[in-house]
Amino acid sequence: MRFDVRRVEMTPSTNDEVKKAALSGAAEGVAIVASNQTSGRGRHGRGWQFLSGNLAFSVLLRPPLPVSLWGCYSFAVSVAVGDALCAYLPEDAVQLKWPNDVLVNGKKICGILLEAGEGWLVAGIGVNVRQVPRSPRYPSTSLLSERAEACSASEVMDGILSRLGFWYECMNKEGFAPVRKAWLARARKGLMHVRIPTEAQEIHGEFADLDENGNLRLWLQDGSERRVSAGDVFF
Ligand code: BTN
Repeated sequence: MRFDVRRVEMTPSTNDEVKKAALSGAAEGVAIVASNQTSGRGRHGRGWQFLSGNLAFSVLLRPPLPVSLWGCYSFAVSVAVGDALCAYLPEDAVQLKWPNDVLVNGKKICGILLEAGEGWLVAGIGVNVRQVPRSPRYPSTSLLSERAEACSASEVMDGILSRLGFWYECMNKEGFAPVRKAWLARARKGLMHVRIPTEAQEIHGEFADLDENGNLRLWLQDGSERRVSAGDVFF
């Protein structure tokens, strides 16, 4: 897959920029990276704070698989980011948290937001390269905090695009199975607390598996199994 990387100085959200490109017929592979993003969006309608030196970009995909499988592309994106970060960090420091966060030493370093419409899928990726946004919800970190040497946001983006090309093609040719296997190999497992947007009570359970549709499988304390399709995981 060939990427056509375009830089914008400032935008409310690179996802919105790529969505506009998608709606005006752009080919897949268009990637828009911002030097400054002013109203970045996160999952579940939350915001995403952009700080100078960090990476915010979005990529246009036009997946050939049935729409019912498109949610699984978010795991391909997480695996790609995990692979790319391993160029800078020890393998075992980098973990993936369901559904699509990337952690370094247990702290969030990257958030991924997928948005889709008729014939298009936008993968938005935010990586804390040089600065750590303050989040009351979970511990965060940056590449600079985790390693002595600085690296640039554009270098990190190039690494991610190269791995994304690989995992996107892999998913298109072979389906979700190899991506799922790669995701599981890096997944943070163990006991977790899950907040489900439509439920008042948090659920607690032991990580059991990722199913063939990307749902989280948990063992609850009473021995029953629960599948979760949307939510936030805390350890
Ligand atoms: C999350 O963890 O909630 C997802 C955050 C996704 C942030 C990225 S930054 C680039 C792209 N543009 C956006 O507005 N959001 C995504």
